[in-house]
Amino acid sequence: MNIVPTSEIRGIISVPPDKSITHRALMICPLAHGKSTVHNLLDSGDTTSTYKIVKALGGRFNGDFSRLEILPWEFGESSIPLDCGNSGTTARLLSGLLSGEKGLHILYGDESLSKRPMKRVIDPLSKMGARIWAGKQNSSLPIAINGGVLKGCEHSLEIASAQVKSALLLAGIRAEGVTRVAEPQRSRDHTERMLASMGAKIVCEEDSVCVTRSDLEPLNFEVPGDISSAAFFVALACIHPNARLQIEGVGLNDRRIGLLKVLQMMGASIHWSIDNSEPEPSGKIEVSSSELHGIDISPEIFPSMIDELPLLALIGTAVDGVTEIRGAGELRKKESDRISVTVRNFRKLGVEIEEFEDGFSITGPQKITGGVVDSHGDHRMAMLFALAGLVSSEGVEIRSHESVNISYPGFFETIEEVCR
Ligand code: S3P
Repeated sequence: MNIVPTSEIRGIISVPPDKSITHRALMICPLAHGKSTVHNLLDSGDTTSTYKIVKALGGRFNGDFSRLEILPWEFGESSIPLDCGNSGTTARLLSGLLSGEKGLHILYGDESLSKRPMKRVIDPLSKMGARIWAGKQNSSLPIAINGGVLKGCEHSLEIASAQVKSALLLAGIRAEGVTRVAEPQRSRDHTERMLASMGAKIVCEEDSVCVTRSDLEPLNFEVPGDISSAAFFVALACIHPNARLQIEGVGLNDRRIGLLKVLQMMGASIHWSIDNSEPEPSGKIEVSSSELHGIDISPEIFPSMIDELPLLALIGTAVDGVTEIRGAGELRKKESDRISVTVRNFRKLGVEIEEFEDGFSITGPQKITGGVVDSHGDHRMAMLFALAGLVSSEGVEIRSHESVNISYPGFFETIEEVCR
């Protein structure tokens, strides 16, 4: 896919539904005692992996992803291994769910997912009594889970992770006693919000959350647009010299909007307003061409922009001064090694960028000339370098661009829509 420079960015757009909330709706609503109705679920590679697995395990659905009725789970064992595809959220949250369900299940994934750490969920779930086996030093897929009765536990996570926290909460709502999860920083809280709106016994404190065994009420709601998808267009509008965009119906959960806050601190012309709060805040973002200056970015804010951090390398090319990210080693454990892929690809496009084990540093302003890059099958890398092409002088060719379908089918169509 060849992306050519564009002279103007304009439009009022919406982005696809939130991926994290869709995964949770597909896994948690079947646990309710009645029928839930969920509008506007994300239909993408990752969420299809979750949908197919829940169905294979006896989940019952009517309708399609624009309006899905989710019926109470008639749970059955699956004799075939369950394919999590590229999706870490599917593998980790399901590990928690299946640990409390009788039966033997095998989870596997694609080449990228098979390299990602699973020990971070296997160890605490084993502490609750789950029996889980993994190859490769207990650290990655495939894994086998022999589910059964669990006991509640106190967990103190070394790294803030919504996937690990959610796995433990989903195990905790069916365990005996109290399950408490504490995190060093606050990761996204979609699982907590969904469980609370379904009547679960859940108490959220400053840096921790407690659950006990709960019966769940059905839920009726609409999934907002994905702020992580909107983030690409927000960053593009800020760094392009002739841009104005409005993004409507997008999720604005405080634990997801770190990038908006960082851009505001850098001096961006950006405003957001919430017009709907329950169970998830959503609203609109207005953003236009901006003069950005360098700021100190504290790692405290990283969990609220974990998937947006690589965008700071692109934003850094337009900032007057230094943009440096340290303490973000988690980026090496995502769908690709996002520090290495970001740095290598920007260098191919003529940008000077320094790589650290736990981040990168870039001094702007710098020109992006152009060239050929590879997404390494990582959806967010493909989208990042498409934006680089739009603000480059010679254009960017992206290898394995189709990975965008993991979270943002229609990404290139929206690019066409906003480029004049
Ligand atoms: C996700 C949590 C994040 C994020 C991922 C989706 C989720 O990972 O990177 O894309 O849906 O819970 P961690 O919080 O586990 O790092």
